[in-house]
Amino acid sequence: MAVEPPGATEQGFSPIRWSDDALLLLDQTLLPEQEVWLRCRRPEDVAEAIRRLSVRGAPAIGVAAAYGLVLGAGDFAAAYELLLATRPTAVNLRWALDQGRALHERSVEAGEREELRERLLDWARNVHREDIAANRRIGKFGRGLFEEGDRVLTHCNAGALATAGYGTAIGVVEAAWSAGRLASVWVDETRPLLQGSRLTTWELGRLEIPHRLITDNSAGAIIARGWVQKIVVGADRIAANGDVANKVGTYPVAVLAARHGVPFYVAAPLSTIDRDTASGADIPIEERDAEEVVHAFGKRIAPQDTEALNIAFDVTPAELVAALITDAGVLRPPYGESIASAFRDRGTAAR
Ligand code: MRU
Repeated sequence: MAVEPPGATEQGFSPIRWSDDALLLLDQTLLPEQEVWLRCRRPEDVAEAIRRLSVRGAPAIGVAAAYGLVLGAGDFAAAYELLLATRPTAVNLRWALDQGRALHERSVEAGEREELRERLLDWARNVHREDIAANRRIGKFGRGLFEEGDRVLTHCNAGALATAGYGTAIGVVEAAWSAGRLASVWVDETRPLLQGSRLTTWELGRLEIPHRLITDNSAGAIIARGWVQKIVVGADRIAANGDVANKVGTYPVAVLAARHGVPFYVAAPLSTIDRDTASGADIPIEERDAEEVVHAFGKRIAPQDTEALNIAFDVTPAELVAALITDAGVLRPPYGESIASAFRDRGTAAR
């Protein structure tokens, strides 16, 4: 894995690039201090990058996994299983892998094994482009929900880094800012891995959108002072009933929003909606190494034998979500119906 800054795509910044038969990923574990690109040549490299959060965020994981299948075309079944096992909550991973598998099966049935790798690459490139296009649509739909002077709060990172480009929640923020409908952004730091502090601020700085970083436990005080008019976050998986799994700490923000009458929005593409999962109770929640909680910046921050729990995501019940801002439009409750109707209108069998 080498270092090479590959620059922007024609569609703007992307943390994912395909170049010289390799997948290049901006290593997000090193941001904001260093901008190092990892070169992945094997599906094992991609799986490792997903596991250690070098590439993270539900849509970005899906796109990286799609390219991972290209790298693993020689032993497709093994690559599929390896990549699927990396992270359990973000459903875009399975969404992308299942699409790749269907393409693989069609190619094998048609006796076109020779062309398989090329076909997979065309498809992965399309998944990449489509995600950026979906995020731009999310931004356009979402900006209409904002008013001049709004201060918005966000949790974790749902920007370009978390997707193929442009971002979901931060895409909405960017679109609202460009339309003159936003004053500034409050950024939750997002313990334990600080995606808000390290990544969202990095993105907002590049976009020149005014923002202030707060500790996660400041959100209540800030909202109670009336300093937050809207909240927008991303999602790792949205169940068929509209329950939302996102970075741990999202649910308490949604509860605060309800207490203070602040609209709580979730921005995500339809590929993050899992109609096979009935409700949030059925969403598998990743539990990560407790070491991430007892260490910060390579230093121990709890006594040697402290036991810790590291739940990576929580579930916000649909009743706390004012709207789902998707690439198919702004969906309102009851979500069972609005989600089903969005998929019907899209006319897709994709689940
Ligand atoms: O553990 P992470 O950093 O992958 O978690 C990311 C999030 O929770 C994001 O909010 C979510 O994936 C949406 S990204 C557009």
